[in-house]
Amino acid sequence: MDEDLIALLRWYRDMGVDLAIDESPHDRFAESPCRPVTRADVAETTRPGPSQEARPAPLPERPAGLPQGTEAIEQTARERAAAARSLDELRGALAAFDGCGLKVTATQLVFGDGNPEADIMLVGEAPGAEEDREGRPFVGRAGQLLDKMLATIGLDRSKVYIANVVPWRPPGNRTPTPAEIALCLPFTKRQIELVSPKILVCLGAPSTQTLLGAKDGIMRLRGRWLDYRLDGQTIPALPMLHPAYLLRVPDKKRLAWQDLRMLAKAIERLAAEAKGA
Ligand code: URA
Repeated sequence: MDEDLIALLRWYRDMGVDLAIDESPHDRFAESPCRPVTRADVAETTRPGPSQEARPAPLPERPAGLPQGTEAIEQTARERAAAARSLDELRGALAAFDGCGLKVTATQLVFGDGNPEADIMLVGEAPGAEEDREGRPFVGRAGQLLDKMLATIGLDRSKVYIANVVPWRPPGNRTPTPAEIALCLPFTKRQIELVSPKILVCLGAPSTQTLLGAKDGIMRLRGRWLDYRLDGQTIPALPMLHPAYLLRVPDKKRLAWQDLRMLAKAIERLAAEAKGA
């Protein structure tokens, strides 16, 4: 019997269910504004009113993935993010923001790490279990690989700043939903604005697609310089494979190495420009 229970617990852990949150189950999707869009939502937004034709009205332009009914939360996120004049203020504003359901299940906010004055900023996906425990991004296995990758081109956390598109751990390390990412996006954008890096590195598909508005998969996008647009100026942005993916598919490390060489060359150019200035 004990062995059966232990086997069951192991299976839960291997499936990513590694966190006891409460005694009884909760339907977080029902409670959270970040719940996925359901068929009922779609029917609701497309149902004709008494005097309307049976055709859905065009929706205002909003970030992809946001369900209806979160406009007020988005507005709050935008206002609070814009009001933050420093990274400390932004961290405080994010810690006080209750608009994203992930905060309920996470242990703590995982805001950023490294040097806020750095020329290079890396943005990953979302904290995992280790990050959730420690409150710093990229400290688990993927983070250790990232540190090794950065070291090959002479970088460490004193020379880069690191954050994620979502600052709370999704339960079981699942990929954050587009709605969760979009609701946190004003804070992520403000974080980039406050760090004001000269080069942005997007680690993995969610970061690349969210920040660079790219639709292709990461295999197509990696290793190409794209633009991150920030208030009229453009920051060169390099999509790279996420280190967690490289742990799962180690033979793709050679692609990551090519991307790191591109990054190293861009850093050399920056240094040469700074010397010439
Ligand atoms: N993966 C991420 O994308 N971010 C982290 O902080 C850790 C793992």
